[in-house]
Amino acid sequence: MNYRHGYHAGNFADVLKHVALVALLTRLMSKDKPLLVLDTHAGRGGYDLTGAQGDTTKEWKRGVGLLLPMRAPPDAIADYLDLVRRFDRKFGPMGKPPEGLSHYPGSPRLARAMLRAGDRLVAAELHRDEYRLLRREFAGDPMVETRETDGYALIRASLPPPERRALVHVDPPYETRDEAERALHAIGQGVRRLPTGVFALWYPIKDEVAARAIREGVAALSKAETLAVELRVATNAPAQSLYGTGIVVINPPWTFAEHMREALDVLVRTLGANATARGDVFAVAKPAPVEAQVEAPQRRKRQAAPPR
Ligand SMILES: C[S@@+](CC[C@H](N)C(=O)[O-])C[C@H]1O[C@@H](n2cnc3c(N)ncnc32)[C@H](O)[C@@H]1O
Repeated sequence: MNYRHGYHAGNFADVLKHVALVALLTRLMSKDKPLLVLDTHAGRGGYDLTGAQGDTTKEWKRGVGLLLPMRAPPDAIADYLDLVRRFDRKFGPMGKPPEGLSHYPGSPRLARAMLRAGDRLVAAELHRDEYRLLRREFAGDPMVETRETDGYALIRASLPPPERRALVHVDPPYETRDEAERALHAIGQGVRRLPTGVFALWYPIKDEVAARAIREGVAALSKAETLAVELRVATNAPAQSLYGTGIVVINPPWTFAEHMREALDVLVRTLGANATARGDVFAVAKPAPVEAQVEAPQRRKRQAAPPR
């Protein structure tokens, strides 16, 4: 495992992922019932953008940094920026936007900021050094349990939860060829254990065929509605460069799609690299049942045959 999220914290892919995470939690928290949040690939929790990793790439300047000067952004972006600013104020002096951010909250920090009394966050991280930082980040916090474990195994082990309500946030590094397959397998196990759970999988868009396989693979795991939210900062980028990013959500909460559409309009304009940038929110089609795929041609043939 070589991936270190610190190099990418706050970049355009993080922005889409974290705006969606905050929007999902906002909707889920509007119901007065306890919620379990599982963050299967948590990272270290918070990132120093002036430290060795963030300062080397400065990717955040072309991500969250471009949103900081915005006035009156749509709700989903405003809620996200509010949490980002609060986290930054807690850890470092606020300078002048867009250069002013010194610290950036990772997914477990954003989720933690939104928990109500009775909610729980369980965050898994497998890399030893990242895990040490994650554990330190939440030391003594009774609402957060950190685990140095495989996030995919955590899904199986934690569902169904006593709360009977869960958001499962899956954010793998896609370092290995079988990562998408492992994610789909684990989400499938989770869906079988808690069919009403909300499952969100992040994916990079470097080629259209792979992105489609991931979102359709997730949709095939459940009978429930499945929604994709995708941002492409340029559609004329060289193949295999990270030109887009997506989140696919099983059981998206009420009004999540509308909030993400509003947010994407703005993200395309602010984060887009050129005029080919685009944002899409759409229901992912379910595959046809196997028997329909096999039998349809035979049925058509039978119907077409002339009467004897
Ligand atoms: C994309 S980063 C997570 C970023 C974080 N979710 C955020 O939004 O702030 C992916 C993380 O998953 C960790 N990781 C890789 N494989 C894992 C696994 N099987 N289980 C748990 N963590 C894993 C990596 O060490 C890395 O820190």
